[in-house]
Amino acid sequence: MFQSKAEVLRASFLAFLLSLPGSAAITADHVAMYDIFAQMQTPSGDCMYEFDSDEQFYVDLDREETVWGLSEFSTVYGFDAQGALPYIARLKSNLRALIQRHNITQVPSEPPEVTVFPKNPVELGQPNVLICHLDRFFPPVLNVTWLRNGKLVTEGTSETVFLPSTELRFHKFHYLTFVPTAEDVYDCRVEHWGLDQPSLTHWEMQEPLQAAETMETVVCVLGLVVGLVGIVIGSVFIVRALHSGHDPRIQGPL
Ligand SMILES: *[C@@H]1O[C@H](CO)[C@@H](O)[C@H](O)[C@H]1NC(C)=O
Ligand SMILES: *[C@@H]1O[C@H](CO)[C@@H](O)[C@H](O)[C@H]1NC(C)=O
Repeated sequence: MFQSKAEVLRASFLAFLLSLPGSAAITADHVAMYDIFAQMQTPSGDCMYEFDSDEQFYVDLDREETVWGLSEFSTVYGFDAQGALPYIARLKSNLRALIQRHNITQVPSEPPEVTVFPKNPVELGQPNVLICHLDRFFPPVLNVTWLRNGKLVTEGTSETVFLPSTELRFHKFHYLTFVPTAEDVYDCRVEHWGLDQPSLTHWEMQEPLQAAETMETVVCVLGLVVGLVGIVIGSVFIVRALHSGHDPRIQGPL
């Protein structure tokens, strides 16, 4: 029922600090962006600011406070979370009014594109972080869990808020701290209305890179052989041309 009422109001604002170099071309040096939305689902809204794709801060709507992405930002800027709350409340009441006044069908759900990768190069026994990146989905309603050897993991997990992606869609990161072993396998399990069933994106430690290195050596040797054969064949043609007398360079005044 609620799903059919989903309607996201979203305000995106781009501030380009433009530089005009000698040429007429315009390039953006820095981009600041804020993303505010309200919806009938959970979470009911989100308010976040980005600077050059770094999450600057977001407003925690439940705790009514500003959460800084990088502590450096908080020393340079101030943002009063209380200031954002009336704005979000206004968005929500506008949303309810829109839904009542208009008979709008929801745009189709767009499932996330999911990738799982480690933060640092993987070494046995060295603590690391697995990152599950969900991209280009709509609406911003998700259930994401981590599985180790098929079992739910709740410790060592964290996540970002919904972040603006392209075409009015969203992206989001989920993290899991872990210690790589040869046996453990991991999955990022995602539920979204755009998916017929929950998706599992798998990650496990790869065999040491020997296979890849052997392959590289083979390709390298093959390249060298092909190059040498080319030189030999080329030399043969040149020698033949010189001997055939058709080469204008050896046609003398005789
Ligand atoms: C809303 O739209 C649907 C299909 O677009 C239609 O079947 C339904 O009668 C409409 N309801 C109202 C109250 O206009
Ligand atoms: C997320 O899980 C809750 C509880 O199991 C469920 O009611 C809800 O439909 C799920 N959401 C999605 C997007 O599948």
